[in-house]
Amino acid sequence: MQKLRLLLWATVALVAFAVGGVMIARWLDVDLAGGMRAQVTPVPAIGGAFSLVDTEGRRVSDADLKGKPAAMFFGFTHCPDVCPTTLVEASAWLKALGPDAEKLRVVFVSVDPERDTPELLKAYLSSFDARITGLTGTVAEVDAIKKAYRVFARKVPQGATYTVDHSASVYLMDADGRFTGTIAWQEAPESALAKLRRLVGG
Ligand code: NI
Repeated sequence: MQKLRLLLWATVALVAFAVGGVMIARWLDVDLAGGMRAQVTPVPAIGGAFSLVDTEGRRVSDADLKGKPAAMFFGFTHCPDVCPTTLVEASAWLKALGPDAEKLRVVFVSVDPERDTPELLKAYLSSFDARITGLTGTVAEVDAIKKAYRVFARKVPQGATYTVDHSASVYLMDADGRFTGTIAWQEAPESALAKLRRLVGG
């Protein structure tokens, strides 16, 4: 009886050990496979075709931006903080780049097409570096670029009017319109400049 009980316990322990081993092996397997998949899966495409208008009402498409790298960001003229701050920073980047600034486009895309007409955008951007290009469009055109660039922007009611919650990152695109990275909201100027210098190949 004692021997049988011992044998039973030994069997239980062996089964538990085997099952545990299989589970660990499986878990490692899944993890390894996941890690390998993560390495080969391409970054989800950010960017692509769009058609908008600039502050003079001229049509601008993704094809027009090619040939020069671009720092693009998305916002709206009624923005109380993120947009003016980013535009001040972008103006400082352009100044700091010196002659290399010619190799870069800085583009501000409105995510509030209902209010941001080309005229309003022009007046708004006149407070910042003149080299910053402003783009806007119809609701459908802006929706299309938001989707292509995976930009988050959502109207939020505010009293009788509204504000827009939106992504604050600056998108860095190479001369072929390919996404290469971002400058984060309030990233240190040295870090942002290093990224921009790399982008323009300086
Ligand atoms: Ni903003």
